[in-house]
Amino acid sequence: MDPRLEQILNLLLESERAGVLALEELAGEVEQGELRRFLQGSRQEEMRNVSDLAALISRNGGTPSQKTGPFAAKVAALPTVRERLALLARGQEWVARKTEEALAIAPKSGPIHDYLAAMANRHRAEVEWGRAEVIRLLPPEN
Ligand SMILES: [Fe+2]
Repeated sequence: MDPRLEQILNLLLESERAGVLALEELAGEVEQGELRRFLQGSRQEEMRNVSDLAALISRNGGTPSQKTGPFAAKVAALPTVRERLALLARGQEWVARKTEEALAIAPKSGPIHDYLAAMANRHRAEVEWGRAEVIRLLPPEN
């Protein structure tokens, strides 16, 4: 596997793994049941991405990273649930951009291309959906 592609796929893997942790911690803290279920659903999605990315890397001759990215600690360092949710949405946006970068260096067709294209779509949708849910579910600030 192209080492640059392996590196960026592993960066995505480490980031999704950090996302699982961040969502787990946050879901344990929010009081609204509906918001908590939303976060738990996102966490399931991130867990699927972790196992799918690891399988994709090893099936194509790479070595999946065992590390976890620094994102969860950054989320946990913020004082309010609102700020943490906002950082989560920015994190999904960052992953969507990194996925586009990975797509640009991936083969133009085949399983890696198809997986990354679907992952980019999901993350763009999650950014918007996440922001929309926060508007609906969090009480007004003041
Ligand atoms: Fe993600």
